Amino acid sequence: EENGRCVVAVDGPSGSGKSTVSRRLATALGARYLDTGAMYRAVTWAVLQSGVAVADAEAVAKVASSVSLEIGTDPAAPFVRVDGVAVDGPIRGAEVTAAVSAVASVAAVRQLLVAQQRAIIADAGRIVVEGRDIGTVVAPDASLKVYLTASAEARAQRRSLENATDVAATQADLARRDRIDSSRTVDPLTQAEDAVVLDTTAMGIDEAVARLRELLDARVTA
Ligand code: DC
Repeated sequence: EENGRCVVAVDGPSGSGKSTVSRRLATALGARYLDTGAMYRAVTWAVLQSGVAVADAEAVAKVASSVSLEIGTDPAAPFVRVDGVAVDGPIRGAEVTAAVSAVASVAAVRQLLVAQQRAIIADAGRIVVEGRDIGTVVAPDASLKVYLTASAEARAQRRSLENATDVAATQADLARRDRIDSSRTVDPLTQAEDAVVLDTTAMGIDEAVARLRELLDARVTA
């Protein structure tokens, strides 16, 4: 689909290599890139700033609908802004990371962000989108759906390297977030029936990106 639409949905748990692989794939394809996790993180940052309790779903939803969220889709220069303020650094911090699963489980927040994500995808045409519910909810008609995964040990090891944190504590935190993300009632992290599962435990980034390009070539020319 040279001029046509091409949406690649990449879902999976934290530390599966989703972000790096998705961004690199977008660059290789000359496509846009959307990090939907960054949107949930940005709303969480706004919630923490506002001082409302993350457990207060109604108040959280109110904050979410009152802020203006901007997200960049150039894979070479991703950015997120809340009411014009760049929050790229703070959204990766421990405070936001600890609170984001709670915010992402609020139905009204998801409704709002899914609508924004669909608009961005429609506008981009060719885009790699990463998250938890992309193949199942946001873009069920994606050209290719990938479910990236890796062993709990490998995921914790990658995250602790990135964040300079203790491996055991990181593994416990990932397990906690996976549990919340997979068991919430609204759009939980699940594998789309038609997703290709890629286990990156023993796979380098280059290999994962190359594998996805092969899969995409096979799809698009089929
Ligand atoms: O991928 P990440 O770690 O930046 O995601 C942050 C949180 O947002 C994570 O707890 C799951 C949630 N999330 C979600 O519920 N749906 C998405 N499409 C993306 C992220």
